Amino acid sequence: MPKPVRIAVLVSGGGSNLQAILQAQDSGQLAGAQVTLVLSSKDDAYALERARRHKVATAVIERASAPSDEAFESMILAALAKAETDVICLAGYLKKLGPGVVCRYQGRILNIHPALLPKFGGPGMYGHFVHEAVLAAGEKESGCSVHVVDEEFDHGPVLAQAKVPVIPGDTPESLAARVLEQEHRLYPKTIAEFCRQLKLSGARHD
Ligand code: GRF
Repeated sequence: MPKPVRIAVLVSGGGSNLQAILQAQDSGQLAGAQVTLVLSSKDDAYALERARRHKVATAVIERASAPSDEAFESMILAALAKAETDVICLAGYLKKLGPGVVCRYQGRILNIHPALLPKFGGPGMYGHFVHEAVLAAGEKESGCSVHVVDEEFDHGPVLAQAKVPVIPGDTPESLAARVLEQEHRLYPKTIAEFCRQLKLSGARHD
């Protein structure tokens, strides 16, 4: 049997997208890919609990525990290497990846963003700020985007999007919930397709 594509999911918060990915894995919808590490930037992220329940290895690497940005990045690289990571999936990870990680895993880092990129992305556009900005702009629709990560925030090539309507009377919370429902479908599906392509191309960890 061919070796599975090994995925590290990077989190900082609740981890509902992580949960959707793990459920897709359990039901055989992840193209044989496997989550082998959940790495959190916060030690109290609920995502860690979800990972433990699924018996997935966890690591916590907080910026405050490293003496410098370089040391922080080295710790992350070491954890990713130890888990023999092929693909990194950001799922609510609130730290910007350093250039060393982006370079080492070039083209193999995915992110999900809760808006229709290139609109409403970039520094400061996360969580409720995104949905507030969408409502303030009077948009008729919003959605989510899965994209390849490069050196800039929310910038690399978009692989897939799902749209939802903005409904009169929406609050940032109601819009976020509608978008999140789509995220949970779109991200596992896109990860599965990405891993399928990666297997075909043979580009894996060394
Ligand atoms: C999601 O809205 C995702 O699009 C964004 O961060 C949020 C993470 O939510 N990048 P969760 O931790 O997966 O519940």
